[in-house]
Amino acid sequence: MADNKNGGLVYPSDGIVNNANVKDYDSLYQYSIENREAFWAEQAETLRWMKPWGKVLDDSNKPFYKWFDGGEINIVDNAIDRHLDGETRNKLAIIWESEAGAVRSFSYYALNREVSQFANVLKSMGVRKGDIVTIYMPQVPELVFAMLACAKIGAAHSVVYGGFSYEALAARIEDADSRVLITADGGFRRGKPINLKAIANEAMKRSPTVEVCITVQNNGIEVEMEPERDFWYHDLQALPIASPKCPTEPMDAEDPLFILYTSGTTGKPKGMLHTHGGYAVYTSTTHRMMFDIKPGDRYWCAADPGWITGHSYIVYAPLINGATVMMYEGAPNYPYPNRWWQMVEKYGINILYTSPTAIRGLMRFGDRWPQRHDLSSLRLLGSVGEPINPEAWRWYYDVIGGGRCPIIDTWWQTETGGAMICPLPVTPLKPGSATKPFFGNEIGIVDDDGNDVPAGEEGKLVIKNPWPGMARTIYKDDDRYASLYWGDYADKGYYKAGDSAKVDEDGYLWIIGRMDEVIKVSGYRLGTAEIESALVSHASVSESAAIGLPHEVKGNVIHTYVILKEGVTADKNLSQQLKEHVASEIGRIAMPEEVTFVEALPKTRSGKIMRRVLRARALGQDEGDLSTLEE
Ligand code: WT7
Repeated sequence: MADNKNGGLVYPSDGIVNNANVKDYDSLYQYSIENREAFWAEQAETLRWMKPWGKVLDDSNKPFYKWFDGGEINIVDNAIDRHLDGETRNKLAIIWESEAGAVRSFSYYALNREVSQFANVLKSMGVRKGDIVTIYMPQVPELVFAMLACAKIGAAHSVVYGGFSYEALAARIEDADSRVLITADGGFRRGKPINLKAIANEAMKRSPTVEVCITVQNNGIEVEMEPERDFWYHDLQALPIASPKCPTEPMDAEDPLFILYTSGTTGKPKGMLHTHGGYAVYTSTTHRMMFDIKPGDRYWCAADPGWITGHSYIVYAPLINGATVMMYEGAPNYPYPNRWWQMVEKYGINILYTSPTAIRGLMRFGDRWPQRHDLSSLRLLGSVGEPINPEAWRWYYDVIGGGRCPIIDTWWQTETGGAMICPLPVTPLKPGSATKPFFGNEIGIVDDDGNDVPAGEEGKLVIKNPWPGMARTIYKDDDRYASLYWGDYADKGYYKAGDSAKVDEDGYLWIIGRMDEVIKVSGYRLGTAEIESALVSHASVSESAAIGLPHEVKGNVIHTYVILKEGVTADKNLSQQLKEHVASEIGRIAMPEEVTFVEALPKTRSGKIMRRVLRARALGQDEGDLSTLEE
């Protein structure tokens, strides 16, 4: 056990404090709240702009805020181009290791070459500024090149996580009207090849907008290629069109950088839209300050670039900050549970950022595995995705961090672009609390009227101010964006996060969990409505309900209740079939743990399923107020 524990607070060592980029949280926080625009302007000055901005914040059309309007910038100019002029040019930008142990590394100079070639290939395929290119790939360096190539030429990317099914991919391609799809033959998981191209082919059958599909060769499996539509990337890369020189397109600060789909209260995923300017400023500032990034750091965010964590904190922010980024394609415990710890030692990782579910998953195997390795290079540890339970926190802190490394628990969302609540390395920690708001942010825990609730009481988490990294809208659905996030407290101008939380006497924030119909499974965000609509799309199902129930490793798992159609008989076989059906409709991450066949579902008189009642019954708890329950 660490001895630097005091009154429930865990203090950073003098070494951490003396080295910190930001040494005094309180005074800078005070300044950032009183001078929000000045604070963000100062941070924006650390980036390279092609044309200066006019106004820092334009709030004339709430909640459609604009940041650094009138300014011109390209995030790739900051993530790559500007590093080519100085010492960073020959520094490693990316070190990548495959599950099988292959290593590829790229200096900033090499990254520029790869991205420029990819950009020229995209141009030759007719990709223009403003298009949305869909990317469906395993975690290989080309995924990062493809994202940056789009941004470089002014196209927006829409990355669809490689674990999603063809149905989910098709729906996202269609929503984005993508003409070009970038994929790979496949990847590996636990030594088994995964055939992504076959899934992409199925998706393309259902989404007629795709005219060109570029396939990166990765796992070497045989795939079906359609002449005229499908091209191997290495064939294109060998052509003169793929020149390693490509100009970086000047973009308006508010031009789209990407859309990224996330789950919400309806079955239809929301395409959250982020921009070049504000997103670059917000992600790079948070990254530099919370992870105390130093020029020599080797930084590893063990997420998938297909999620917002990967977009912000594998790809964009670390490259803007000129860091060396570690990437690993594969399972954390393959071939043995020491895989990650072996890589920390081998590459001398200084900062490791992961999720509570991954920590709990590795903790299961005991201390023996990490203890076989020298983890003394680690300086800071990060956590994201769901609340971290104190047991996992202690294990991460004591066994992985050797009692030296502050745990940076970062609360944020796809919608927020970057971390909103997090400690700095100098912040005294309370295990399980994401601690305090990041600079410029005022976080409220409020009741239905938007009034702050007293310390210790549960309330709704709101953000009381705009911030540069905020999503600008839901793609093609401004109304839904305005009402869903900003509608409940329109008079006060608060953003509703959808989480419930508490604040304690010391001003520390404690996230409790989602209040809406969103379930976090292993940190992945899934909507009950998506799961339910996948179930009712099965021929045997008449009605269904999905709830999340606590699970030791995954945080939550999905339990479903199904009413079968007349004449269909329930059995074990059918239950397995329905689980598989959900997995093939959405992806394996959405596969229910349990399917329970029922005759009826608890509903309100207006016909809404009372998931709260199902949950209480499953947990053997009090069912609460049932006055609205239908007979
Ligand atoms: C939801 C957003 C942010 C990148 C990954 C998730 C939960 C996220 C924490 C944390 C407690 C957390 C919230 C939030 N969440 N980080 N540190 N402590 N809860 O992004 O998939 O958009 O999910 O994740 O419930 O609303 P996302």
